[in-house]
Amino acid sequence: MPKPSSCFVCQSCGSVHGKWAGRCDSCGEWNALVEEVTSHNEKPAHKRKKGRSLDFIDLGGESKAVPRLKTGIAELDRVTGGGLVPGSAILVGGDPGIGKSTLLLQATGKLAAAGFKTAYISGEESTGQVRRRAKRLGMSHTPVSLAAETSLGPIIDGLMAEKPDVVIIDSIQTLWTDQLGAAPGTVAQVRACSQELTRFAKKRGCCVILVGHVTKDGQIAGPRVVEHMVDAVLYFEGDRAHQFRILRAHKNRFGPTDEIGVFEMRETGLSEVPNPSALFLDGRGEASSGAAVFAGLEGTRPVLTEIQALVAPAAFGTPRRAVVGWDSGRLAMVLAVLEARCGVSFAGKDVYLNVAGGLRINEPAADLAVAAAIASSAFDMPLPPDTVIFGEISLSGDVRPVGRAAARLKEAAKLGFKQAISAQPTKSSTKNDNTILPIIAMKALPDLISRVEASSEHGLNADSAWGNANKAA
Ligand code: TYD
Ligand code: MG
Repeated sequence: MPKPSSCFVCQSCGSVHGKWAGRCDSCGEWNALVEEVTSHNEKPAHKRKKGRSLDFIDLGGESKAVPRLKTGIAELDRVTGGGLVPGSAILVGGDPGIGKSTLLLQATGKLAAAGFKTAYISGEESTGQVRRRAKRLGMSHTPVSLAAETSLGPIIDGLMAEKPDVVIIDSIQTLWTDQLGAAPGTVAQVRACSQELTRFAKKRGCCVILVGHVTKDGQIAGPRVVEHMVDAVLYFEGDRAHQFRILRAHKNRFGPTDEIGVFEMRETGLSEVPNPSALFLDGRGEASSGAAVFAGLEGTRPVLTEIQALVAPAAFGTPRRAVVGWDSGRLAMVLAVLEARCGVSFAGKDVYLNVAGGLRINEPAADLAVAAAIASSAFDMPLPPDTVIFGEISLSGDVRPVGRAAARLKEAAKLGFKQAISAQPTKSSTKNDNTILPIIAMKALPDLISRVEASSEHGLNADSAWGNANKAA
């Protein structure tokens, strides 16, 4: 029998090393390597007994539609692609205190009320604590089976007996199995427990939802391999200072990955936000310089947000560029285009950029709104009121049209906006888009900047500087 050998696994990124070292080569984390014993029981292929062979089938042919368990929380159903899939495993990640336990407890309550059998296994809180939360959420009388346990063996046995349709494991980092020598919370334990629970889900047709904590740099603590094992990975994000919470699909084998669900944290738990634009724009005051409304797209849904910029003289040393809610590399690019193509200098100026409401925007379509907000602050000139902005900027300074302009314009019109600043619509869309909302078309970034500059120089108010959109377009 071959002797068991050992390897060293990084507890931060999950990479495997042959020798111990003080620092992980892959992720640079110090003191993160832990020894794991691996035994080689597997026989080489030629020595294995002949067993069952594979049954191959054709690609075409009948297949059943994926059945779904609707949670009754529309925002959650949207992100999962139409509801939970029996026999699937889902990982829900997020910072501590963001509301993962609250969301999932509410989901079990809704599912139980709809007649599904649900179980909630808490490894972090006592049953008393979960009961108190349930009381606060007004769901004391919903038939959810609750248990507090961290040992995997009893959990699997208990679930086999209970046979729930949906089970929540809160959280995967607290579980341990006595099959391994490693301490609870280590990569080896998290990996083994996730694997066992995923297998349980597949075998019993139960939907297993694993809660996972996220490290400060945004990764699910423990191995990335958990993300590969499960069918869907959802992130629950948001700023603790704001009441909005966003559930985002990061991976989904049963649906799209760019959908978001928006929630609001209230005294009585999380409530759904069916119209996020109204929420993100809530509290916007008089038009002020440095603010631009971006008509964005999150998945299939248009979402309007305010982008705020501040350009101020740098007090000393290297000027600062600080970004919240957008990509700092992208900001550097927009600033470079503004300098090189429009002659706006940011030398000796600090630039701050913020997406209001705690939303994180990933779309390049926000380029034009960012540039407009920055120019508006630099020239201390408010942008025209009741106007949404979207468009991608190329390095040459051209403004490019972006996808699904009509959806963005419709959302803006619905919320009472009067016009849009965007790229020249493509031939096929010109007629339709302009009827939804008048568009002030910008061929290149200097067109926009010169208007902001001109209105500031001549002391015009925003209305007379920008005039009527139909005339301009
Ligand atoms: P929780 O679900 O425990 O977060 P996680 O499981 O992600 O760690 O949420 C904790 C926070 O939510 C806590 O700071 C209090 C707040 N909260 C409310 O504001 N209202 C509520 O009804 C509940 C249950 C929690
Ligand atoms: Mg929790």
